[in-house]
Amino acid sequence: MVSTSPQSKLGVFTVGMGAVATTLMAGVELVRSGRRPPVGAYTQLGWIEGRDGQRRRVAEALPLARLEDLVFGGIDLVETNAADAARTAAVLSAEDLALVDGFLRGIEAGPGLHDPAYVRTLPSLRVRPEQNKAEQAAAMTAVFRDFFARRSGGRGVVLLTLSTEAWRTPGATHATIEAFRAGLARNDPEISPSQIYAWAAIEAGFPVVNCTPNPVLEAPAIRDLAAERNVAIAGSDLKSGQTLMKTVIAAGLAKRYLGVKGWFSTNILGNRDGFVLHEPQNFRAKEITKGGVLDDIFNRQEQPALYQGMEHQVHINYYPPKGDNKEAWDAIQLFGWLGYDVEIKVNFQCRDSILAAPLVLDLALLADLAAQKGAGGIQSWLGGYFKNPGHRPGEKVSNDLHVQVGVIEEKLRGWL
Ligand SMILES: NC(=O)c1ccc[n+]([C@@H]2O[C@H](COP(=O)([O-])OP(=O)(O)OC[C@H]3O[C@@H](n4cnc5c(N)ncnc54)[C@H](O)[C@@H]3O)[C@@H](O)[C@H]2O)c1
Repeated sequence: MVSTSPQSKLGVFTVGMGAVATTLMAGVELVRSGRRPPVGAYTQLGWIEGRDGQRRRVAEALPLARLEDLVFGGIDLVETNAADAARTAAVLSAEDLALVDGFLRGIEAGPGLHDPAYVRTLPSLRVRPEQNKAEQAAAMTAVFRDFFARRSGGRGVVLLTLSTEAWRTPGATHATIEAFRAGLARNDPEISPSQIYAWAAIEAGFPVVNCTPNPVLEAPAIRDLAAERNVAIAGSDLKSGQTLMKTVIAAGLAKRYLGVKGWFSTNILGNRDGFVLHEPQNFRAKEITKGGVLDDIFNRQEQPALYQGMEHQVHINYYPPKGDNKEAWDAIQLFGWLGYDVEIKVNFQCRDSILAAPLVLDLALLADLAAQKGAGGIQSWLGGYFKNPGHRPGEKVSNDLHVQVGVIEEKLRGWL
């Protein structure tokens, strides 16, 4: 049972205060005031079976932070507080935003680290003064330590909810802790703001969840630092909408041994995320996280007759009239018995951040639980929350949602 003393507060610090972060903050406040239900959050609605065969609510069986105990803070390059940021994001209704306006207005966004080589299309209004990357990392370590010390008795989780950055494959600078530290000192252009934030949070000793497709866990130096300091780290890129549907449908098709000739996915969205993804370099990051999810479900080695030559394409178009109300289409070309054609069309319509926010809430509570249990390094058991499940080198992970949920439950059962 978690006590309600001030020491039991959990600080949630969002790096980037946009649609996902503010829908989380406003949502938590609406849920804990009893105005709205926590739909989509496993930690709030899920049940788990204990060793004694009894089923209990996840939130009662495990020492998860309570919604009442969450305190929020963050930084952003454009936004100054969560109330204005939530209005810009335009996910929630004016009525819901009015109910939580005072609460959101109290969550101020500090300035961030800007590198136009990684996010070119944003106006950078509120940038930290440090020019050197080692100084930026040190400054962010101090920001995290200070925030959690002041607001939550030193207990906290850092969520990377910033824009998708231009993709750069991690190289020599990211290979070891020493190389990365030297890279920070010489201001290596290969080091992105996301990587500096993650590094700084790990140095400060706080779990990091990468909700973006930005390559953070892919950097061996960051993975090694997290393992060395025994700090939990998880990612990457929330599996919230089209990719969630894809991995559910694909797993079902694979279990019926149907062949797949091709899977064409396209999206239109008009939020700031879509605006940034319009840049080909930034879209490349999404293409990588969205593109790999079918590979283990449709196993070409085991079933060449079913999947050899399968074409998988993913496209995203920025279309302002849609706002956060993303629309996705999938055209799936299958073949069945004797090779005869089968087709499936999926038209998925959602408010992107409505699906993302409960995942981020779960991740904040579960990353904090990992910290309580002394679990450091990459938390691959959380893979079901991500398009690109972060794992240790050589570790086998599945993209099949049913398998992934089983892995989460198994891990949590071990902590009952
Ligand atoms: N919206 C969703 O449902 C969803 C789903 C899956 C993944 N994601 C990913 O989550 C991330 C956030 O998505 P979003 O919809 O909230 O985007 P958003 O554009 O609404 O918010 C991102 C915020 O990050 C800020 N930002 C950009 N660079 C920054 C930096 N260097 N430091 C500090 N702040 C910075 C921007 O000013 C912006 O306010 C994106 O990478 C997106 O691809 C979003």
